[in-house]
Amino acid sequence: MAKAKVCYACSACGYESPKWTGRCPGCGAWNTMEEAIAAAADKGPAGKIAANQRPGTGAKAMLLKDIPEDTSLRIPTEISELDRVLGGGIVEGGLMLIGGDPGIGKSTLLLQACARLARQGKRVLYVSGEESARQIKLRATRLDITEPMYILAENALDEVENKIRDLQPDAAVIDSIQTMYRPEMASAPGSVSQIRESTSLIMRLCKETGTSVFLVGHVTKDGAIAGPRMLEHMVDVVLYFEGDRQQDYRLLRAVKNRFGSVNELGVFRMTGKGMQTVENPSEELLSHRAKGASGSAVFCGMEGSRPLLCDVQALTSPTYFGTPRRTVNGADAGRVALLLAVLEKRAGQKTYNQDVYINVAGGLELSEPAADLALCVAVASSLKDRTLSPEVAVMGEVGLAGEVRTIPQCERRISECARLGFTTVIVPRSNARRIHAPEGVTLIGVDTVAQTLSVLF
Ligand code: TYD
Ligand code: MG
Repeated sequence: MAKAKVCYACSACGYESPKWTGRCPGCGAWNTMEEAIAAAADKGPAGKIAANQRPGTGAKAMLLKDIPEDTSLRIPTEISELDRVLGGGIVEGGLMLIGGDPGIGKSTLLLQACARLARQGKRVLYVSGEESARQIKLRATRLDITEPMYILAENALDEVENKIRDLQPDAAVIDSIQTMYRPEMASAPGSVSQIRESTSLIMRLCKETGTSVFLVGHVTKDGAIAGPRMLEHMVDVVLYFEGDRQQDYRLLRAVKNRFGSVNELGVFRMTGKGMQTVENPSEELLSHRAKGASGSAVFCGMEGSRPLLCDVQALTSPTYFGTPRRTVNGADAGRVALLLAVLEKRAGQKTYNQDVYINVAGGLELSEPAADLALCVAVASSLKDRTLSPEVAVMGEVGLAGEVRTIPQCERRISECARLGFTTVIVPRSNARRIHAPEGVTLIGVDTVAQTLSVLF
């Protein structure tokens, strides 16, 4: 028998090379080359056809107007926050990848989604390569799931394929892609070539049978989904489950969605009875706010089309020796340094001899420039030890000259503030000019950071 040809594949980008190298020539990552069996040496049923190629189907080019409307259905999972992120529900034949840290709740959420689908009379199959059928039963009992669904504890993908072809389920979960393997390939489960081959097999299966499949993906320590980047290209939807394990909020974010908009955010809470949806996250995030303490400002961020109020906190305390400390949690440290410099130079708020700590309550991450003004106000409030009125919300982007710049989607942010009982909203003047304030809300348009501080304190 001819010796299997060994090659080396990069676990980050899938680049293949006949020799081992310390640095991947494809993506430049270090120490990612792993031993693999060259694709041509695989004597699998796919034979010489590379994984993601199909024999031609003889399809003809058609005029766009002649193609029939897509009537493929969207099945709502009836978990409102999951549907929001998916863009209304699962699509027939769609392949959806969910990544997240271990223990964040991927299996729990998907089991619950299966139960909801089964309740609507859909046929669902839950395949686990990580847990035994009895462990899944135990979890289902904990979650009070009694709906009929098929459970399969299996690692061999060929078996899974047969089951899906036999059962013809409407939806299936494969937990996780890293534990699935095709025996005809010599490399270990979780290796680049296994993941690539398995995913392309599942993708073909989805399109052929019309089954919607949820794939669970592990993440690496940098937070990316383990395996080749190609994995994310192949699937239709990529969702990330985020959240602090110390906290019970879980955020589900779409980073790719062929059937809906991205940047939608789903908010869940992990409870003793599984994942509960949080319909009113702003209310929840503000419920622990320490009213009457200095160094806190409320900001309304946008997550996709969804406004989300959050409490931005700052604490300044004198530095007794050495360099002042800046500790930032939930915002970009570079941006905070920039804002401190603007505060010092343009608004006379000296922090050169102060340690500054920034925290965004609820484990949220501020990535919008619109949060700048709230950060400045929080720092100034702590520095002056002056409290902001609890009915004030602040938003605006800050430029290097200390000017307050226009922010997008200002109207939606203001209505969310109004809905939660804020009576004064500080916004950039350029925005304020164009907006009609809702009942009971006073809009204050500001031009500069210094002016904002003089209005507030
Ligand atoms: P799990 O869904 O197994 O995470 P993943 O599949 O992403 O690795 O979630 C496991 C965690 O969730 C575990 O730490 C226990 C906790 N949990 C609850 O708090 N409540 C529950 O009802 C369940 C089922 C799990
Ligand atoms: Mg799991």
